[in-house]
Amino acid sequence: MNAASPEPHAGFLCALDDIPDGGALEIAAEQAGAPGIVVVRRGDAAWAYRNVCPHFSIPLNYEPNTFWAYDAELLMCAHHSAMFRFEDGQCIDGPCQGAALTRVAIRIEQRNIFNNDGRGQA
Ligand code: FES
Repeated sequence: MNAASPEPHAGFLCALDDIPDGGALEIAAEQAGAPGIVVVRRGDAAWAYRNVCPHFSIPLNYEPNTFWAYDAELLMCAHHSAMFRFEDGQCIDGPCQGAALTRVAIRIEQRNIFNNDGRGQA
């Protein structure tokens, strides 16, 4: 979250504009050892997933908040290059083709993104 973000409240994850357009933002888990969330963005749309690759059940990134995204369409796992579609988390290429990231339900209100299950972040 950056200085421009509003006062956090229940379920707030980040501002839409915190996420690079066509890229991804990592949101660390509140509890140590719990999986974080990765939020991907294309324009005014965003999707969120548990930051857990279905191939080896490890985070999609090596470095904090560093993700590889292609054409604002695909998110690549840094480990073995599995490619996941932004809009549904489906792996369309790589060692876990056919598997999918675990969606985190979100809503966007006034360019702010909230976890939609009302239980806060991961
Ligand atoms: S751990 Fe993600 S592709 Fe292998």
